[in-house]
Amino acid sequence: MVAEYEIRCSDLLHGLATLKNEAVDLTVTSPPYNIGKEYESQLPLDEYLNWCETWMREIYRVTKPNGAFWLNLGYLEISGKGRAVPIPYLLWDKSPFYLIQEVVWHYGAGVASKKAFSPRNEKWLWFVKNPQAYTFNLDQVRDPEVKYPNQKKNGKLKCNPLGKNPGDVWIIPKVTSGTNRASKERMDHPAQFPVAVIERIILACSNENELILDPFLGSGSTMVTAYLNGRRCLGFEVREDYVKMAQTRMELVANAPIQTCL
Ligand SMILES: C[S@@+](CC[C@H](N)C(=O)[O-])C[C@H]1O[C@@H](n2cnc3c(N)ncnc32)[C@H](O)[C@@H]1O
Repeated sequence: MVAEYEIRCSDLLHGLATLKNEAVDLTVTSPPYNIGKEYESQLPLDEYLNWCETWMREIYRVTKPNGAFWLNLGYLEISGKGRAVPIPYLLWDKSPFYLIQEVVWHYGAGVASKKAFSPRNEKWLWFVKNPQAYTFNLDQVRDPEVKYPNQKKNGKLKCNPLGKNPGDVWIIPKVTSGTNRASKERMDHPAQFPVAVIERIILACSNENELILDPFLGSGSTMVTAYLNGRRCLGFEVREDYVKMAQTRMELVANAPIQTCL
């Protein structure tokens, strides 16, 4: 199965402006959270939210009529208001998309808190353009871990033989660093997606050969996953070092130079 892919070193708004209306089937991404990570400059809250609104509207414009947008969001501090405010509370209705569902990504281990419960989840917002017509390939992502697979009702198996619906709480470990405990897929990026999370989204919400977009590409996790599952992928990333990281990663996976996907 050969997929095509393209990595552009670009600010996402410049990159998005080059795309035609309704060109993309599925966007899967995670923006900077405005919390002072090495790849972002912190903005006043209203400026940050306006910026998010601007690129979310652009993603809406470039999404096909039956396309979808999966947005991963964490928490930020709002001075005098909240120490860890869920970013979905601030952004969920700031685009013309229709919200299908919020999925909780429970990532297992992480930093330990002393004055609050230790944070162990982030959210994914699943948006679509048309709630009457969107892709959901449940059979592609069923969970085979069923407790009573042979249970019957009126002589018929109760559970689908492919497994159960995986539900809206996904227990999938984070990509870890460290000499002895680093994940196999680990790149030198501070916010890398695990391929397992992205694979569930891509298989459920797109079909082979469709075009996936990640406008905050980082180390290229969305692109690797799209490629391995026979989808085309376009990514924008503003930092040259991460672009190189994603290129090297893709060349290893694809064993071929970068191709163009549009
Ligand atoms: C949360 S990280 C995404 C990490 C990615 N999901 C991965 O698996 O590696 C956000 C990325 O967006 C990039 N970025 C920040 N501002 C950007 C902008 N204006 N345009 C494009 N990329 C940007 C950052 O350099 C960072 O790599």
